[in-house]
Amino acid sequence: MPDHDRHPFLHGLSKHRGAPPTVVVIFGASGDLTARKLVPAIYNLAVDGLLPADFFLIGFGRQPMPDTEFQQVAADAVREFSRREVQEDVWSRLAPRTLYVSGGYDEAAAYGRLSERIATIEKEIGQPLQTLFYISTPPSVFAPIIENLGASGLAARHVGQAHQSKVIIEKPFGKDLASAQSLNRTITAVFEESQVFRIDHYLGKETVQDLLVQRFANAIFEPLWNRNFVDHVQITVSEEVGVGTRAGYYEGSGALRDMMQNHTMQLLALTAMEPPVSLDAESIRNEKVKLLKAIQPLRLDATSGDVARAQYTEGLLGGNAVPGYLQEDGVAETSSTETYAALRLNINNWRWHGVPFYLRSGKRMARRVTEIAIRFKPAPGNIFAESERFQLAANTLAFQIQPDEGMSMILNAKIPGLETRTQPVKMNFKYATTFGSNTPEAYERLVLDAMIGDGTLFIRGDETERSWQLVTPILEHWQEQGRHGLDAYSAGSWGPPSSAALLAANRHTWREP
Ligand code: NDP
Ligand code: BG6
Repeated sequence: MPDHDRHPFLHGLSKHRGAPPTVVVIFGASGDLTARKLVPAIYNLAVDGLLPADFFLIGFGRQPMPDTEFQQVAADAVREFSRREVQEDVWSRLAPRTLYVSGGYDEAAAYGRLSERIATIEKEIGQPLQTLFYISTPPSVFAPIIENLGASGLAARHVGQAHQSKVIIEKPFGKDLASAQSLNRTITAVFEESQVFRIDHYLGKETVQDLLVQRFANAIFEPLWNRNFVDHVQITVSEEVGVGTRAGYYEGSGALRDMMQNHTMQLLALTAMEPPVSLDAESIRNEKVKLLKAIQPLRLDATSGDVARAQYTEGLLGGNAVPGYLQEDGVAETSSTETYAALRLNINNWRWHGVPFYLRSGKRMARRVTEIAIRFKPAPGNIFAESERFQLAANTLAFQIQPDEGMSMILNAKIPGLETRTQPVKMNFKYATTFGSNTPEAYERLVLDAMIGDGTLFIRGDETERSWQLVTPILEHWQEQGRHGLDAYSAGSWGPPSSAALLAANRHTWREP
């Protein structure tokens, strides 16, 4: 079989992908993410027959509990959050392989107990296990966990072999450039880069992966994908939810750290990078880093700069009145945390020089949508000059990442009739119509990829540092400015005037996706 036929990205979640015998250890086993995403993801991989025959799950947390209690916690999580009904035969095979070890995240002896537990399982099954550590705790304990994995020898289990230890690290990966660099140093003192899987769950979304297929498996796009044909690009990641119960985390984060530095920047990188030479992780990540390096430093001035930030005020969402950010539980009365951020980026390379890229992300916006819209230049010397008869719209190719996943293209068409009149029309491709709607969750894909050692959909160390390098000056500037220059938008709207002004400077307007 040629190499590319064996590539995991091509095979997707197919049965061709063989993960070695594995034990997944989740740090933060009693947490929200473990219950809502991780345990259901593992269960759904089991349903699809994608877990290795010898698979074990160990929850690690500070509360002592017997295995049976953790098995109950895991069963409840699957019942409540799995995308598919619980199949008792699948769960009854997984449950006895779901175990628990308690201890402090910085308690050396606890890692000794964990190590012994894994060694006991290996002895029982008579073969070595790959250990995949999933760090799903608040970031304050990321470093102590990694250091203890190093000191206990757990990080070096079966090193150099196909089933050497691996580690998945949750977001946020640092809070600025210096802290991301420091975390990278902690990690690389213990693990090789090939063992490290930094999560950005947007990369696990089906439609984000489809972006690569659309761009590089269809010959018609590449000739148009540049400054000669593209007028500008808009990337929108809007949410209807507010800060909810997460003010404790969000107050120290804000939209730029929470969504822009990672998810939105990743969408930008995949949209604008050069074609990779192959689909392997390094080729794709090299291109993403090159692209991020070509982004010019942003101008920070509040009136003529490339950045906008705002907080939501009270408003109406789906007909219901919702409070403003400052009225949310746990938010300081004088908080300057932005719940919306927009950037205007210039990419200084041959492909994109002079093409503005607009990025926006906010909470409590009119609609939950993630969309990448490529707006093309007008037809040259257009013989259908815009008039009442000839209604024309700019050709726009939009990838709807979520919800209602799909792709659309705005074209101009003749209205049927004896008179020549035109009207913009939309060609639509909907995932659900063509492929059905029960697609795997991002975490299923990502946990499986880490198990088989494929880092394509994870962030490399230099990549995360480059994107922090871009946003850190903005964060510092906003911190200095406090509430000065912080704009406002009503909950349920499409964002603040300062964000519209970023586009208006180039006579552009935001799309309403
Ligand atoms: P939680 O706040 O629920 O914490 C997870 C677990 O970590 C807790 O159950 C607890 O486990 C342990 N823990 C909590 N606080 C501390 C502390 N101060 N010191 C040591 N241990 C602590 O987090 P989530 O599950 O929501 O998130 C986990 C990670 O995933 C975070 O990094 C988060 O940013 C990221 N994430 C979460 C998402 C979500 O939807 N929840 C979405 C995207 C990313 P125990 O008491 O058992 O030790
Ligand atoms: C997380 C952010 O990374 O992504 C949350 O911390 C945000 O604030 C979430 O709500 C959005 O993810 P999704 O998959 O619902 O678009």
